[in-house]
Formats: sequence, structure tokens, C-alpha cells
Amino acid sequence: MGQTQVRLTQRGRAGMQFLGHLRGIASAGLRDRARTDFERDSDGQALQATAATMDAAPYRAWMKLVREASRVAARSDAYRFERFYQCMGGHEIFVRGICAVEECRKEIEQARSEQSKTEQDDGTSLDLLPGLPEPRYFPVEWHTQPGGWDGYDLYGEVFQYAFGPNVFRYGGYAVVEPGQQTRYAREESFGELPPGTYRRIYEVGCGTGGSLFSARAVFPDAELIGSDLSETQLRHGYRVSRRVGAGIQFKQRLAHDTKEPDDSIDAAISFAFFHELPRHETLRVLEEMYRILRPGGSMIIVDPPPFKEVDLFQSVIMDWESLHHGEPYFSVSCASHWATEMRKMGFENVREKAFHDRNKYPYVTVGTKPGTGDE
Ligand SMILES: C[S@@+](CC[C@H](N)C(=O)[O-])C[C@H]1O[C@@H](n2cnc3c(N)ncnc32)[C@H](O)[C@@H]1O
Repeated sequence: MGQTQVRLTQRGRAGMQFLGHLRGIASAGLRDRARTDFERDSDGQALQATAATMDAAPYRAWMKLVREASRVAARSDAYRFERFYQCMGGHEIFVRGICAVEECRKEIEQARSEQSKTEQDDGTSLDLLPGLPEPRYFPVEWHTQPGGWDGYDLYGEVFQYAFGPNVFRYGGYAVVEPGQQTRYAREESFGELPPGTYRRIYEVGCGTGGSLFSARAVFPDAELIGSDLSETQLRHGYRVSRRVGAGIQFKQRLAHDTKEPDDSIDAAISFAFFHELPRHETLRVLEEMYRILRPGGSMIIVDPPPFKEVDLFQSVIMDWESLHHGEPYFSVSCASHWATEMRKMGFENVREKAFHDRNKYPYVTVGTKPGTGDE
């Protein structure tokens, strides 16, 4: 953005910070009480005993069990009150974030036009394919985001200046524990890729490119390609990449149809993406990633953990996202086990790693396409 820095007004910043802080505090104390209530409830105990025997159960069985547990948890006043804060905060984040960024519209538009005058070619590109068929689920108001991913022209700025620095910092949001620091989650996760040479890295569902900017720090010389369906997200990522000289290629594509050649990618990344897809769509995306990976190339999925890896109360917290927070596929994704699906698809050396003791977030699944690429 040339030399122009966009700053939220003091009022906008204060509003966002207050909310983040409120969520962190409300979640920390009340959530522990809600957990104790659940663990003391005899039905909660019976369901926990069943969960302990369900390691390899099909996803539908996990869905049924966790839904029942959600009903038991809702008997607790502490649980309902804590969820009230979550619900209110979840809505308010967007109401306040949009208002805070809207107050800066003139400054943002000026910065955009200044940037377009000073652009240099650093390898950043934007390839839009207008008219791609939108999947039926796509316009969902994700995490209660008004209008969905393309519902507001300044959503890139809402995430960059309001949501990112002022909400995740306090934790207590969705699957992130109160106070949990997730700032370097992306870089740390990429460290789980097997040692090797990664010249071409592809992120499916890249949004505004948050993970690709982190990948640039870890892989300074790699060719970085990101695809997404949302024009708003891609355009923002493109502008930021130009501004910082990250040289990222942004492409508008359906996740299951990347149009990349077979065997052409060294690593495929998916960060915070699979939980936003219906299960059949995720399986199609996994197949597509397998197709474009070169033999010996690896796929890394970073997302919330499977239900089977966390205690039942934590699964209830995750299920709430599907029940009440504009995340229709969150539960089905957590009820699934992507490591198993990757093995069935032919990936080998499939490994999983969790980064936090209690919520197991971020949860990383990595697998490699057989072969060396030399044949
Ligand atoms: C939570 S965001 C991903 C964030 C990003 N990976 C990061 O690390 O910051 C989910 C993204 O998935 C995109 N998306 C959802 N369904 C898609 C599909 N079928 N094809 C391509 N992109 C899709 C949305 O537009 C959105 O940008």
C-alpha cells in the first residue's frame, strides 16, 4: 500500500479489543465449570465411557454420540452461559469489525490506488476465472460472517486489521483455548512436512493467503501457488503479496478442480479449510491433491482435531460450532479421520501430530504420495 498504513480508529480498535478480552475471560472460568458439570453428570459419564471404546468407529457413530453429549452438556447453567458469551461475541466480532473497517474506507481506497501506481513485478499474480459454478454450500454465512466469504468488499481488511490481531490474540474463539497463542501455528505446522526439497507448493482454499505468507518465511525460494473460490479473498491476498513482495500466485479455482498438471507439486497445504467442506467434497479435494502431487510429494492438513483425539466435553465445544456458529460441516469433519482416508487413497507414511495438550489444536495430518519422482 505504498507508504500509507491503514489504522483502525481508536474507537474501532477499542471495540474489537474489548470483545476479544471479554471472550477470553468468559470462556476461561465458565468453561471449566461447564466441563466439571458435564463430567459429574451420570449421562455424561456413560457417554464418555462409550467414547473411550469408539476409536475406529465410523463418522456417523461419532456424530450421534457427540450430539447426545451436546444435549447433556446443555443441562448446565455454566455451559449455557459460556455459550451465550461465545454466541454474542461471535456475532459482535463481525458487526464491530465491519464498522471499524468501514470507518477507514477512504484511507483504504486511497492506499489501494497509491499501490496500483507503484507496482513492480515480483512474481505475484492473480488469475480470476469468473463464472465458476458456485457449490451449493458456498454462500453460507461462515462463523456468522454476514453474506459469506464474498459478502462485503473489505472482508480482507476486516480479517487483517480487526479480527486477526484483536480476536485470536485472546483465544477462547471456536476451538482455540482461552489465552492460547496461535500466532506461529502455520510455521510450526509446516515443520511437520518430511525433510526434502519443496520447489512448488500449492495451498488449496488459501483465502487471503495467510498460510502462504507463512510458507514464504519457511520456504524463501519456493514457487507458491494458492487457490480459492472467493474473489474478495484472492484480491486481498494479491494486494498484500504485491505490497510485501511475496511473489505468490493466486488462482480462482474450485478446490476439487485445480487445473494443475498431474504430478506437478512438491507439497500441498490445507490450513483451516477441510472443516468448511461437506465430507464428499473433502474426499474429492484429497483425490485432487493426490493427482497433482509428484511421486514423493507430501500433503499436509492443518485443522481442528478428530473427535476421537479429544475428551468428550471438548468435542461438545467443537460440535457447538456446527449447531450454532455458521459452521455446518465442522462436526462432520471432526467425526471423520482424514489420516484413515488418506491411507485408503494411497498416501503412505501418514502421521498425525497435535500441538496442544487439551484441545489438540492445531492438529496436523501429513502423508506422502508413493514413489520418488525420479522414475
Ligand atoms: C477458513 S478460510 C481458509 C483460510 C486459509 N487457508 C488460511 O490459512 O488463512 C476457507 C476458504 O475456503 C474457501 N472455499 C470454500 N469452499 C471452496 C471450494 N469448493 N473451492 C475453493 N475454495 C473454497 C473460502 O472461499 C475461504 O476463503
